Amino acid sequence: MSEAEDFASLERRGWADEDTAAAYARDFARAAAMAVPHLVSETKAGPGMHVIDLCCGHGIVAGGLIDAGATATGLDFSPAMLRIARSALPLADFVEGDAMATPFEDASFDAATMGFGMPHVPDPPAAMREARRILKPGGRFAYSVWHDTVRSAFTYVFDAIGVHGSPEIALPPGPGATDYADPARAFPAMEEAGFSDLRITEVDSRWVVTKPDAPIDFFIEGTVRGGALLRPQPPANEKAIRSAVAETVKANHGPSAPWDLPMPSVVVSGRAA
Ligand SMILES: C[S@@+](CC[C@H](N)C(=O)[O-])C[C@H]1O[C@@H](n2cnc3c(N)ncnc32)[C@H](O)[C@@H]1O
Repeated sequence: MSEAEDFASLERRGWADEDTAAAYARDFARAAAMAVPHLVSETKAGPGMHVIDLCCGHGIVAGGLIDAGATATGLDFSPAMLRIARSALPLADFVEGDAMATPFEDASFDAATMGFGMPHVPDPPAAMREARRILKPGGRFAYSVWHDTVRSAFTYVFDAIGVHGSPEIALPPGPGATDYADPARAFPAMEEAGFSDLRITEVDSRWVVTKPDAPIDFFIEGTVRGGALLRPQPPANEKAIRSAVAETVKANHGPSAPWDLPMPSVVVSGRAA
């Protein structure tokens, strides 16, 4: 990452990387998959409905929508992610584009989903407004986002970076990774975007791992934000971060493998007015 790189270009460049896309789909998404049934049920997706899946990544949510009998269109700005999605789901339609300014007409879709995309767009309220614009009145929009609880693989990693990471390494300013998990922030933003009947559901998503520092690898290899904080760490800092995560995992979840780590998320949803 160059010093001058802003959040939007960090995200775009990062997700375009084939290895990051493949590692996200292989490892990180094991926890993301657990939110899919909730995204599908919160939008009431089913036969006869055409659903847009924003920030579709490797197609995990589109797959759930198709399994529920809906027709799915996925949109993502990463050609690497879209390649994986197209090969996994030949029945869905995938479009390259930006979730804050999609190429679709007003009121094109019966429902909309966004799996773990909200903290990646530079302006999450703009993405909510765009979802509202392309939804038919009455259609539901549901998005998932990681929950920042005191005891999760997410906090194990970011707490360890906070304590042992090099102070020289920082992310460009952008939305907080878990900002829109908090209903105090999410609901007013959704309301302002034109959604009512707001709901939030907690999802007990998890990673089962056989190495206590596996979450570090998941973040280094399969995420943009985590990768940008972890990849440039000097070896001594990376070693200390790994040890801290491994120790926390063993202290909280027992001394031996496998470790069943909480990686909780929430699904926020609303109805287009
Ligand atoms: C964390 S992944 C989520 C993938 C998948 N939806 C899931 O639930 O696992 C975030 C995805 O959002 C995409 N993305 C980030 N910012 C975007 C934007 N502004 N417009 C479209 N896609 C974006 C990335 O390319 C990546 O595929």
